[in-house]
Amino acid sequence: MLPGSHKEQLSLATRLTARWAAVWFLLAFTARPLFEMFGGPFSEVLRQRRYIGLGVASIHTIHGVAFVWLIASTDVSRPAIVWIVGGTGYLLMWAMAATSNDRAMRALGKNWKRLHTLGMWWLWFVFTYSYGGRIFRTGTETLGLVMAGLFVLAALIRIPATRRLIGRNRIA
Ligand code: HEM
Repeated sequence: MLPGSHKEQLSLATRLTARWAAVWFLLAFTARPLFEMFGGPFSEVLRQRRYIGLGVASIHTIHGVAFVWLIASTDVSRPAIVWIVGGTGYLLMWAMAATSNDRAMRALGKNWKRLHTLGMWWLWFVFTYSYGGRIFRTGTETLGLVMAGLFVLAALIRIPATRRLIGRNRIA
């Protein structure tokens, strides 16, 4: 049982689920670049990426249940833009989860890659924006800095030029 009032419990559940989803999302998002840079232990992460992605979708669906409950039963609210951009993130995420199998990959062809690339970067944006905003909120500055920093770093290592730079410095 979580401590605190009904609102505090739902707020905590909302935050914890988003946090777990964020960590697993980062793992799936960086699996390939980490494997390319460091090989070895990351080959297993790369192999399991589909299941990590499905894990993200499951945990983040619970985030959805928690925030809808929180907003419906307390004075917490979110502006329309959050519903639109965040809601689109959910639609993309569920579409990605539904197509995370070999049959859908074959059936969708090039569109599979388009959907998964768009969805991944959309989710990256919403996570980065959410944590970026926390940098300027009293009491959540450190959380915001660490998490937004990790998301920016994750995006950077997906750029081949940054990976080459890190690789060269490792060899030197
Ligand atoms: C792809 C969609 C979404 C992502 C990636 C996302 C991500 C996040 C993140 C990173 C946090 C901060 C967690 C923390 O403190 O560690 C958060 C909190 C929250 N999110 Fe979401 N979110 C999404 C969609 C939405 C939508 C559509 C709503 C409601 C309209 C929403 C409502 C909330 C609320 C109310 C909190 C704060 C709870 C609190 O601090 O008490 N989220 N979300």
